[in-house]
Amino acid sequence: MLGNFTYHNPTKLYFGDDSLKFLKDELKNYGPVVLLNYGSGSVKRNGIYDQVVAILKEAGKTIVENPGVMSNPTLEKLNEGVKIARENQIDLILALGGGSVCDYSKAVAASVYYEGDYWDKFWLRQEQPDEKQRLLPVGCVLTMAGTGSEMNAGTVITDAEHTFKVGHVFDSRLMPKFSILNPRFTMTVPQEQMKAGIYDIMNHIMEQYFSDFDDNTSDYLSEGLMRSLIHSSRIAVRNPQDYEARSNIMWTATWALNTLLGLGKKEDWMVHMIGHSVGAWTHAPHGYTLAAVSMAYYRRAMKNGLPKFVRFARNVWDIPADGLSEEELAEKGLQALKDWMLEIGLPLTITELGATPDMIPGITGTTVVYPAGYLDLTKDDIAQILKESL
Ligand code: NZQ
Ligand code: ZN
Repeated sequence: MLGNFTYHNPTKLYFGDDSLKFLKDELKNYGPVVLLNYGSGSVKRNGIYDQVVAILKEAGKTIVENPGVMSNPTLEKLNEGVKIARENQIDLILALGGGSVCDYSKAVAASVYYEGDYWDKFWLRQEQPDEKQRLLPVGCVLTMAGTGSEMNAGTVITDAEHTFKVGHVFDSRLMPKFSILNPRFTMTVPQEQMKAGIYDIMNHIMEQYFSDFDDNTSDYLSEGLMRSLIHSSRIAVRNPQDYEARSNIMWTATWALNTLLGLGKKEDWMVHMIGHSVGAWTHAPHGYTLAAVSMAYYRRAMKNGLPKFVRFARNVWDIPADGLSEEELAEKGLQALKDWMLEIGLPLTITELGATPDMIPGITGTTVVYPAGYLDLTKDDIAQILKESL
């Protein structure tokens, strides 16, 4: 049975190949100083930066630039952004990039007017900003599909000094006020990152799907989204310039993690917890870290979650029952997942990401553990999953 919930998602989305034109209207809602956060240069090479800066200038904004937001943004870079924002009386933070830049912008927005140790309060203690605290508004021009950061309040930051990557999901005040999603902007994403994004989307849905056995609408939505993603991913890998496939992937990414699918049900997220830790140690693309630990994790989860894995096999992968036992059907579903991952070229081991056996105690140590969908893992279990993923 669906649990009780309140649903409110304040992010306004503009979707499509002409969506950037709406930035001009949005800018009217904010004061004159815009902090423009972007990454390591892709937006300059593909021309998106020039388009955005032209719109900002036309709107008469003062632009404060903060380039160099790296993939898997660090605490050190967060401190830098907070300092810049404090020195410049920012009215709006505009994120120009993928999930990293968007996450980072929300993290800066939350921290600028917090007088204490924001890392400790928001990420280590997982607290929300006080009601009275001022939070800066964030807008996002998304250039890569995957995280759902454009329509959620997630912010994942890496403390590189302590090899610790941790996410905090803020309350809805930190969701982007608006996000601009132009699928054409994703066409220049390197193949490796496109595939990482595709598996990130898949895994966001799986993290919310693999829990409970009740009959609820969310699971049917999840199955539809997974089917669409699998279909479009096959087309996009063959032809990355296929607009139809890329636009479907971008839209699926948003719905995979914009707070809808997990409503009223238990969720999992342990693949993400292990993946984040692998990411802190290897600096691999986020989606790759999830792919590399998934088979070992889901094989273990399947033992407790058999009926859901049978449903996954039948409703997502169209595997006929054909007199098979429940175990055989569920196994075929997992095999189909693995075959698809191999087909689109995802890594299936952490070794491919640069992890070595001697890192396992460290990766285990920095993995955040809590009761998951079908498993209640100990640190020993995590170590075992990592060994099986080598
Ligand atoms: O540095 P730039 O120049 O921006 O290059 C990026 C980066 O190297 C490049 N890229 C992005 N758009 C491009 C492009 N290159 C060419 N053309 C374009 N149009 O791609 C690389 C990866 O970008 P990044 O933003 O790091 O990828 P992604 O969107 O996967 O974001 C990953 C971060 O999001 C966090 C991850 O942990 C990681 O830190 N997550 C955030 C979540 C959330 N907010 O809810 C949930 C996720 O599970 C995830 O944890
Ligand atoms: Zn993810």
